[in-house]
Amino acid sequence: MDEKEISQAVIGRLPRYFRYLGELKDEGVERISSQDLSALMKVTASQIRQDFNNFGGFGQQGYGYNVEYLYDEIGKILGLDRRHKFVIIGAGNLGRALGNYTNFERRGFIFRGMFDSNPELVGSQVRGIGVMPMEELERFIQENDIDIAVLAIPKASAVPVAERLVKTGIRAIWNFAHVDLNVPEGIQVENVHLSDSLMKLSYNISRYQMEDRHLGEQKRD
Ligand code: NAI
Repeated sequence: MDEKEISQAVIGRLPRYFRYLGELKDEGVERISSQDLSALMKVTASQIRQDFNNFGGFGQQGYGYNVEYLYDEIGKILGLDRRHKFVIIGAGNLGRALGNYTNFERRGFIFRGMFDSNPELVGSQVRGIGVMPMEELERFIQENDIDIAVLAIPKASAVPVAERLVKTGIRAIWNFAHVDLNVPEGIQVENVHLSDSLMKLSYNISRYQMEDRHLGEQKRD
């Protein structure tokens, strides 16, 4: 595969392609045209062709795309052919919900440990994994070659905890705390803000209501 840089916008769309192709594969579909994929995903066929052209196309004229091949290739681009071990820091509502989500394993993300600074939570279990005290963080990450730390702690704690993580040689941080982390180049940070998605939803509700009202007014005119 061509090693040219793929834009973050394209990378951002790959998980959705991967999800749809996985479903098609499970249904036994062997190939699909960009038109059919377009109708299914509600993305233009030209967008799909453009996106796939970034990494060599994978399509054949008159044949369409081989679903399994495309699924595997996108999986490789996303690094999903490798296993990533992760720990969760913060055993509260969010941390426990993430720890209990078994589907991450299907994608190669292996839940290995959980930490919390609250001594009352230490020793409690999430999916058979005992919550450990923060004093054990560095040793555990290094001994178990952990790739990803999930931050599910309040923002005031996230910055100092991220500084500790950097020193362990962690490769990536999946950050749910509402604060931007300053980490050295080479450590990947992905911020997740569910409320951003809700705000987008709120915008779309308002826009729909406005359009609906506007249409109603036009009908009355
Ligand atoms: P929670 O209060 O139920 O859990 C937080 C846990 O973090 C507690 O168990 C606490 O003991 C632990 N903690 C605090 N400081 C710590 C430290 N220095 N080291 C280790 N553990 C520490 O809160 P919840 O609902 O689980 O939320 C956790 C964080 O995630 C909050 O900051 C919240 O704002 C954020 N959040 C973010 C979302 C997003 O979409 N980004 C969605 C939901 C929550």
